[in-house]
Amino acid sequence: MNPTRRHIIQIASAGAAGVCGIPVWAEGIVSEIQKGDQLMAAKGDNKQPLKVQDIPIGVKPVMAYAMDPATQKLRDATRMDKLLLLRFDEADLTPEAKSIAVSGVLAFSAICTHQGCEVTEWSKNDKSLLCFCHLSKFNPLQTGSVVKGPASKSLPWIGLASDNEVLVINSGFSAKPGA
Ligand code: FES
Repeated sequence: MNPTRRHIIQIASAGAAGVCGIPVWAEGIVSEIQKGDQLMAAKGDNKQPLKVQDIPIGVKPVMAYAMDPATQKLRDATRMDKLLLLRFDEADLTPEAKSIAVSGVLAFSAICTHQGCEVTEWSKNDKSLLCFCHLSKFNPLQTGSVVKGPASKSLPWIGLASDNEVLVINSGFSAKPGA
């Protein structure tokens, strides 16, 4: 990609804060993803911006990339910007999860904080996201906290909003994605 055309966000400061003191914009994170971006499935036949109802409740997460709505270009220059979308019944959301979700949909980095594999699976039994490489588990209802190591850092989340049911990015990553 031509670096002069890259819209790199240097997220400036943790000025705004969500509930429970969660930073909406964390300091020092470089990402192409911008507030207002739409989301596109990373695999499959759906070539439309993802809507709330495209994310099934309580099953395997949907892999996605952000997309610039003006140019329809995916923000996929780096795998660190790959996202996981999952949806819960809104009644099941914790206050922490509610603060970063829209209509029960939550978004996290898809890159494991242990050694950078993709977190692809959903463990129904303990409602956790699972990385198959070394079986780390993360709790999406506790903003990505580690349920089981070897990972020691939470899975970063990214805030969502919706525009006529179309999912849009509403914040930067809560922490640097990856290991
Ligand atoms: S890379 Fe995910 S558990 Fe090791």
